[in-house]
Amino acid sequence: MTEAILKVEGLKKYFDTPKGKLHAVDDVNFEIKKGETLGLVGESGCGKSTAGRLILRLLEATDGNITFDGKNVTNMQKKELAKLRRDVQIIFQDPFSSLNPRLSVSEIIAEPLIVHKIVENKNSKLEKEVLRLMDIVGLAERLINSYPHELDGGRRQRIGIARALALRPKFIVADEPVSALDVSIQAQILNLMQDLQEELGLTYLFITHDLSVVKHISDSIAVMYLGKIIEKAPTNELFKNSLHPYTQALLSAIPVPSLKSKKDRILLKGEISSPIEPKPGCRFAPRCNYAMEKCFNTDPKLIEVKPDHFVSCFLVTD
Ligand SMILES: Nc1ncnc2c1ncn2[C@@H]1O[C@H](COP(=O)(O)OP(=O)(O)OP(=O)(O)O)[C@@H](O)[C@H]1O
Ligand SMILES: [Mg+2]
Repeated sequence: MTEAILKVEGLKKYFDTPKGKLHAVDDVNFEIKKGETLGLVGESGCGKSTAGRLILRLLEATDGNITFDGKNVTNMQKKELAKLRRDVQIIFQDPFSSLNPRLSVSEIIAEPLIVHKIVENKNSKLEKEVLRLMDIVGLAERLINSYPHELDGGRRQRIGIARALALRPKFIVADEPVSALDVSIQAQILNLMQDLQEELGLTYLFITHDLSVVKHISDSIAVMYLGKIIEKAPTNELFKNSLHPYTQALLSAIPVPSLKSKKDRILLKGEISSPIEPKPGCRFAPRCNYAMEKCFNTDPKLIEVKPDHFVSCFLVTD
């Protein structure tokens, strides 16, 4: 059995706000095996990016443990942290705002190599390495001196990926990497990411608000709602036998191509409640069509109901 390269246990991140503590990530647990992809899915504001940033130590956790490659990330000191920053990279949603507009393609891709002193500046080795990276993400050599604004969204995201790969990472947090792209280009970038994963043995945490995007790329999926994981299962199992009413609503919102298999869309009532000082009880209860009295005053635990299939819902676990 492959071991987990990333283990997240009891992870919490509370932000101090004028109205009280905002529970962005609230007791989250998951692990990802080497070479696999976990899709982290949920609506805007549920804490996906915060979870990703905690793994990279771009944010300090309020509580909990993150273990990467056998090392405790939460208490890493400078030297280990520098290694983590090479081994774990991030790809962002909007390559336009995450790429410096004043730098050319070659300068953007070369930057991490220079900063981390992998290759000396201004030598032919550097250009060779930049061209190698451009080649593996499918960017034509002639684009080497172009600027981000001269390129379309798909190519810009390829630059973002090349830059992330420059330090030969083991793990990539992909934060909505295709959400800003046209559907046809989304497929190209997803295919590229899958090919790179196979070739380079990468492990991905793939963050998205769109379940359909992670269907093919993820080995397993964790669904988040207001800071908590409410269901987690291998991808096929989640798509076939989802158990949480929230997951079922998300799945019902995915358009189906065939008219014959038209599903009834489950409409969620109301809005996401506030993550500030949340009351006890299931965070989803106010919007749940099946909520019982208990759901409003007791926190449901995430329980393994079948092998590798976890759900936190009293309808299922009681
Ligand atoms: N630095 C911060 N200070 C205060 N609150 C924050 C901060 N960063 C995030 N939050 C809050 O934490 C919660 C989770 O935010 P996060 O960005 O992780 O959500 P998300 O799931 O990535 O959403 P989106 O799909 O919109 O990117 C939100 O309520 C957000 O407003
Ligand atoms: Mg986000």
